[in-house]
Amino acid sequence: NVLILDFGSQYTQLIARRVRELNIFCEIFPYNNIPSDLSSYKAVILGGSPFSVRSEDAPHPDLSQIRGKMPLLAVCYGAQYLSHFSGGEVAASNTREYGRANLSYIKEDEVFFEGVSANSQVWMSHSDSIKALPTNGVKLASTHDVEFAAYKIEGETTYAIQYHPEVYHSTDGKQMLENFLVKIAQVPQNFTPNAFVEEIVAEMKAKIGNDKVVLGLSGGVDSTVAAVLLNKAIGENLYCIFVNNGLLRKNEFQNVLNQYKGMGLNVKGVDAGERFLSELAGVSDPETKRKIIGRVFIEVFDDESHLLEDVKWLAQGTIYPDVIESVSVKGPSATIKSHHNVGGLPDFMKLQVVEPLRMLFKDEVRRVGASLGIDPELLGRHPFPGPGLSIRILGDITPEKVRILQEVDSVFIEGLKSWGLYDKVWQAGAILLPVNSVGVMGDERTYEKVVALRAVESTDGMTADWVHLPYDFLMKVSNDIINKVRGVNRVVYDISSKPPATIEWE
Ligand code: XMP
Repeated sequence: NVLILDFGSQYTQLIARRVRELNIFCEIFPYNNIPSDLSSYKAVILGGSPFSVRSEDAPHPDLSQIRGKMPLLAVCYGAQYLSHFSGGEVAASNTREYGRANLSYIKEDEVFFEGVSANSQVWMSHSDSIKALPTNGVKLASTHDVEFAAYKIEGETTYAIQYHPEVYHSTDGKQMLENFLVKIAQVPQNFTPNAFVEEIVAEMKAKIGNDKVVLGLSGGVDSTVAAVLLNKAIGENLYCIFVNNGLLRKNEFQNVLNQYKGMGLNVKGVDAGERFLSELAGVSDPETKRKIIGRVFIEVFDDESHLLEDVKWLAQGTIYPDVIESVSVKGPSATIKSHHNVGGLPDFMKLQVVEPLRMLFKDEVRRVGASLGIDPELLGRHPFPGPGLSIRILGDITPEKVRILQEVDSVFIEGLKSWGLYDKVWQAGAILLPVNSVGVMGDERTYEKVVALRAVESTDGMTADWVHLPYDFLMKVSNDIINKVRGVNRVVYDISSKPPATIEWE
């Protein structure tokens, strides 16, 4: 187990992901909330920070229980921090150092650099430079512009590097992390999907005992994997509820429900489509739509869970990025869209919360799902927003608009699948625009709806690029939509990236 201290850098999560890729478990804590019991940690990594160590409000972690007592790797801000406060010197760089650099000097016979090529490319992102090493510091590497690109401290297992090993552009970054964690700190590489399943199932069994648990399934990867894990731990005591809000994809409610039953889950499908649609009638504002859907979902879910007797727990598919966000140094980031479904639990439900995936990243959830034997097609499904098609129907929502959008979406998604493009796209969907346009069909003038198609590449939805879908595919799909879907006479393709656009239109 590795402890990563967060000083607010955008890269901290990436460090954690790289460590996990080495099959090593790690946890991120804010620098000002270090766990008091460090006995389960085998090594500590200090991350980067947007602050300069010289500024007054810079983070000052208390490392007294860590430094010299356990293996420590300080990255970027961490490296400057160790230098500045331990007898070295940090000053503003003459030139701001951002981007690629190459290690022009590497100390010989240094385990940290084993398997790292001479001249290895590293990624720099700092505006301060280490001008003098801390007491007992030994230079390990330099680049053309940065003399102390890496150093260690004699007499301790403390290493410090100015560059970011976690970013993709640091070609041997993962090797260096492995050298530090495995060869130097001797952390075991035993965090595998199977080991996780075994451990979490045992933990859930012990925690939940013979209590009953209720869980809301959404058709998405997270809730599904959470359900299968809990099912393995407590079997029939897990009661799953799958709500149709009337805004799912075409036939999705029935198909997914059947799939869940086929997986042996104890699941009840609740068809509340009409209730949602009648509450949404006449509402155009996106945030109001989200709020209504959130509220009605809780009402429906609560009604259903009241039908079950003696339920003690609510299971949720919360994953690690949501957890990190809620405890981060900066606090939860500003709300652009109120998507975060965490913490939406009404008091009156009075249930204890169990979150089997709260320590996993998305890709790990998928790997755990695969090791549990969940259908790869389900695990590879594109993300789909909780409010469903409601935020892809611009303006007010009617059953007819939902029908049109479901049909369009289905032609698009099936098309992507049959052209072998579905897995190359991170997320895709169609948007029904609140305008009609003039067209001509046969000899008739038409005045019908416009739909936009959206397909993006992304890793986490935070940034995204539109996908360069082949023209032949777009031509075919546009023809199919206009010919097959009554009410649509024009198709456009969204070529905006995020930022500055967002993935959804609302
Ligand atoms: P945006 O539009 O913010 O979307 O670029 C980023 C990712 O979040 C999804 N999204 C939502 N998910 N409830 C959700 O559960 C929401 O209200 C919501 N809004 C956006 C979006 O589909 C994309 O994957």
